[in-house]
Order: sequence, then structure tokens, then C-alpha cells
Amino acid sequence: MTQGKNDQKLWGGRFTEPTDQFVERFTASVGFDQRLYAQDIQGSEAHARMLAKVGVLTDAECEEILGGLAQIRGEIERGEFEWSVSREDVHMNIEARLTDLIGITGKKLHTGRSRNDQVATDIRLYLRAEGQVIRGELQRLLRGLAELATREADTIMPGFTHLQTAQPVTFGHHMLAWAEMIKRDHGRLQDCLTRANIMPLGAAALAGTTYPIDRDITCELLGFDAPAENSLDAVSDRDFAIEFCAFASLLLTHLSRFSEELVLWTSAQFGFIDLPDRFCTGSSIMPQKKNPDVPELVRGKSGRVYGHLMSLLTLMKSQPLAYNKDNQEDKEPLFDTIDTVRDCLKAYADMVPAIQVRTEAMREAARRGFSTATDLADYLVRKGVAFRDAHEIVGKAVALGVESQRDLAEMKLEELQAFSQTIEADVFDVLTLEGSVNARNHRGGTAPAQVRAAAARLLDWLEAE
Ligand code: ARG
Repeated sequence: MTQGKNDQKLWGGRFTEPTDQFVERFTASVGFDQRLYAQDIQGSEAHARMLAKVGVLTDAECEEILGGLAQIRGEIERGEFEWSVSREDVHMNIEARLTDLIGITGKKLHTGRSRNDQVATDIRLYLRAEGQVIRGELQRLLRGLAELATREADTIMPGFTHLQTAQPVTFGHHMLAWAEMIKRDHGRLQDCLTRANIMPLGAAALAGTTYPIDRDITCELLGFDAPAENSLDAVSDRDFAIEFCAFASLLLTHLSRFSEELVLWTSAQFGFIDLPDRFCTGSSIMPQKKNPDVPELVRGKSGRVYGHLMSLLTLMKSQPLAYNKDNQEDKEPLFDTIDTVRDCLKAYADMVPAIQVRTEAMREAARRGFSTATDLADYLVRKGVAFRDAHEIVGKAVALGVESQRDLAEMKLEELQAFSQTIEADVFDVLTLEGSVNARNHRGGTAPAQVRAAAARLLDWLEAE
């Protein structure tokens, strides 16, 4: 990037001395906003076409501008474009280059427009495009979860509360819990993108413009749902970026919880799952190590995304209307959030279908933790015992199990009957893990049949999206 060239500033008319070299660098955003070049050109093309339609530009001038912009797009994509800090930002770099290329007509492009409505438009277009990619990755992850859940609908694992064994659940059911959270994140993204798809162009600097512009034309050309209703609002608020970071923060919260479980489950102590080697790395000193880096890193990435949400909230807080230079600071947090979310989702969408389940280890863990104790209490209730009494009876049976290091299913009928005469031989049906999960056979329950049905509903929903 070139720097400190004493280019004629596009706004230099009233200035009597050149910008301080440090101030030039300090106020420039081209280092990070050049990634908006495609949207900036797209917006300029629509603006030029609209100006020609309403007669502010001639058709010939419009064609010249479109030709120049196409050439600039090519230069940027081929890496030939010379970005200049003295031209401050992406908008003025492109506009100045246009004037280099086509002369005075280039200087007409900015008629009826300001960088304030231009930048607000560019970011919305950019977020819209990236949002679609992220939406696709969310759907890919959801599909992976639904398929894994179907495959492992019968696989039994301990369900936990307080990270203590609680009741048996199916692995498929557990996966679909994550799917529900991620599906809500998908909905939040959708909401955010809908609200963001409103067009600031035409707001100009803050008050609108004196030219006979037709905002419906630009709106249509750019695929926005409607032009913004209020010019002051259009150039000043960045709530759509904040909403995106809020969506991202919740998504990362969910992924961090998911990650935490994957990290625990791959440990020797749990041994519930394996992740393929391609998602793990080793240790430079301990030869035996295989570390679950991908989930760990995703868990860690939540920090920067929460930070970006806080940055944008703080950036916006107390800003008077309308545009303030503060808003130039919206881009880096937003861009990094987009990049982080996209990468985390890619990692998860690739990794989830590759999770290898260690069925025996999960089953053994479920068997060991008295996970069917509630089933025994429910059994007693069905035979007429009051729930609180049943709870007490089962508690005593568990105490015997702890003392003799046996699960309830491993006790003799007579031993169990010592706690309650109501217990009969059919008790062993409810003490098995399969009996326990199959009994929770209602919508939202952990029974394999319900898991398969819920996964199928999710796949249908994905199909319709
Ligand atoms: N680079 C600026 C930004 O990112 C563009 C808008 C500048 N407008 C202005 N009046 N200084 O916000």
C-alpha cells in the first residue's frame, strides 16, 4: 500500500495545509475496509444507473462509469490495484481511480451520495452475502447432527445433571439437543438478515439529497427489501451489526458448550467418543497425546466474539445523530466476527459427521451410575406407592448398591423385596437401560423411536429451508 503521497484529497477544497502524516494513517480505514470493494462497486453501479434513469447523468456518462468500475474490479481481483492510505478508505480509493481512468465523468459518480450512506450500504450488502454463507454452514451442521442422531438413535449413554449420572439417554437425543440450539441460532441469524436488508442509499450525508433521485430503482437493483425510511437513522445506526454479533455470541456459547462435552468425552476418563486424527493434533513432548484442538479452539473463540459484541455496543452507545467517525470502528469487530463464525461452523460441520461413538464405554458408564433409579421409583408409583415413599425406598436400595458395588439391575429379587414387598419379578424390565429409554416415549423424550422421528422432522425442515 502506498502511503504519504500528497495526493489531492477528494475533500481538499477548504484545506490550506496537507494532512499530518500520522493523522492520515490514524484516520484511514483502507487497510481493513478494502474487503468491501465488491459491494462498493456494486453500490456505485446501481447509483450510476439510477442517476442516468432520472436524467442526472447521461446514458453515455453512465456507460463510461460502468466501464471504469468494471476495470477497477478487474484490477483489484488481479491484485494490480494500488491501494493508497492518502485516499483514506475503500470508497475514495475506488472513486479516485475511476477519475484517473475516465476523467471528469468519474467525478460525477458521487452526485447525490455521501460516503455516509455509501458505507452503510456496503456493510449491509457485505453482511447479507456473508450471512448466506454462514446460513449454509449452519444448515450443513444441522444436517450432520440429524444424521448422526438417526445413526445413534439406539445408543445409550448416561444423561447428566450436575455432571453426575442422572438417567440414561440416547446419544441421538443428546445430539438433537445441540441441534435445537443451533436451529434457534439459525432463526436469529435469519431475523437479523431480514432487518439488515434495508437500503441506506439516498440518505446521502444525513438529510437526503436535492437531486431527483429514485430510491426504488437503486433498491430494486441492489436487492434490498425497501429503502430506509429515515435518512438520519440510515447513516447512523449499526444495530444490524450488533444483532449479528449477538447472534454470533449465542451461537458461540452453544458451540463452546458442545466443545466442552467433546473435550470431556474424548478424554481417557470418559472415553465416550473418538475424533478422527485429522481433527486433532499431538504434543511435541508427550508422544501418547492426541488433543481435541478443534473443539478447544472453538470454545476459546467465544471470547473474541463476545468481545466484539461488547465493542460494537460500546461504540454505538451515546452517539449523537447522525454519522460520526466513530462508526469507522464498526468494521474490524464485525469482519472478525464473520470470519470466526464461518470458520467455527466449517470446523463443526466437517467434524460432527466424523464423530466415532464408543457404544460400549457409554453403556458401561450408564450402567454404573444407578441411572435407572428413577425408573424403579416410577415402577413403585405405578404399583400404588406414593412418590415420596418410593423415592425413600429406592434411596435405600441405592445405598446397598454403593456399599456392595452393584447396580440395581444386578441385585437379586429378594434383596430388592427387602426394601418393598411391592417389587415383583417384572422390575427387571424397568431396570434395564433399554427399558428406561424406551419408556420415555413421547415427543421430546429420549426413546429411540422419538429420536428418529425428531431427526426426521429436522431433516424435513432443512429440506424446506
Ligand atoms: N471510512 C468511513 C467509515 O468507515 C467512511 C465514511 C466516512 N464519512 C465521513 N464523513 N468521514 O465510516
